[in-house]
Amino acid sequence: MSQNRVAVVTGSNQGIGFATVKALCSDFEGSVYLTSRNEERGLAAVEELKKIGLQPKYHQLDINDESSVLRLRDYLKDTYGGLDVLVNNAAILLTFKEGMSDDIFAEHACTVMQTNYFDTQRACKILFPILKPHARVVNLSSMLGHLTHIPGEDSVAVNLRAKLASPDLTYEELDSLMHNFVDAAQKGEHTKYGWPATGYYTTYIVSKIGVSALTRIQHRDFERDSRENIVINHVHPGYVSTQMSDYKGVLTPEKGAVAPSWLALLPPNVQEPKGAFVWCDKTIVDWVKGPMPPLD
Ligand SMILES: NC(=O)c1ccc[n+]([C@@H]2O[C@H](COP(=O)([O-])OP(=O)(O)OC[C@H]3O[C@@H](n4cnc5c(N)ncnc54)[C@H](OP(=O)(O)O)[C@@H]3O)[C@@H](O)[C@H]2O)c1
Repeated sequence: MSQNRVAVVTGSNQGIGFATVKALCSDFEGSVYLTSRNEERGLAAVEELKKIGLQPKYHQLDINDESSVLRLRDYLKDTYGGLDVLVNNAAILLTFKEGMSDDIFAEHACTVMQTNYFDTQRACKILFPILKPHARVVNLSSMLGHLTHIPGEDSVAVNLRAKLASPDLTYEELDSLMHNFVDAAQKGEHTKYGWPATGYYTTYIVSKIGVSALTRIQHRDFERDSRENIVINHVHPGYVSTQMSDYKGVLTPEKGAVAPSWLALLPPNVQEPKGAFVWCDKTIVDWVKGPMPPLD
């Protein structure tokens, strides 16, 4: 039976994704797929794990490319009859540094939102139909994706937070909010709509708030799904030393993979966490009200 079980980690040729594959190779009963947008980098990462006695499998996957996601879906369906674990780890961060122009900020808003929110959502739409009963899905969010990163007590900010936190929020409404940020950023008007002011992490913050709000909608859907016990959570993996953090993070990638791999391996019929925002120490954090635990 375990021969036929399969786990996939997106963007796993390096960083937390790579460490998550490593953890799953040890603890998941079934095949574990390291995936990468660049085949050469992915195969090199597979070789690294083989050197330490692990046996990951490989498939190309670029979430920016719909045909690449479709190819993976068809392959998983044909080979394994579906998918048991999906870790949506792939993401980008483009930081806005002093001296950069408003045009660069606008460009970052487009690019970061496309990969982190829209293309992650598209990958889910393509892959969710092949999830098997008891599947586990983990969306990599971030502490920066916590709702409290939309600041302010004026009515616009309060309304924006209320919309994002609404238990009735729909995919269409969330898409439209994410489009609103990108469109407003093109005109330098994003704060007018309650979004955080231009800063180092702004575009990443909004994209990860999108990922977290998306997870809550997806959880609602899984609660109503005819397939038994599909569980999804969103996770802050910690501040981790990877290319994304310019290797400034305080945790090793292995420590950063602890909560994502734990969520990927939640046992059958688990009661919680479900649809929860999970901190790197595995505690559940209220995504709407907080408080967030102290930084790692
Ligand atoms: N590091 C942290 O402190 C931290 C904190 C909170 C949350 N996170 C989240 O944790 C996750 C992993 O981050 P990380 O720090 O490990 O980042 P990373 O080292 O930069 O790795 C990101 C991975 O995603 C891949 N990727 C990017 N765009 C892709 C695409 N279109 N299709 C497929 N793969 C793509 C990258 O591929 P290439 O190698 O080809 O670029 C790379 O393998 C991300 O979701 C991030 O937002 C990280």
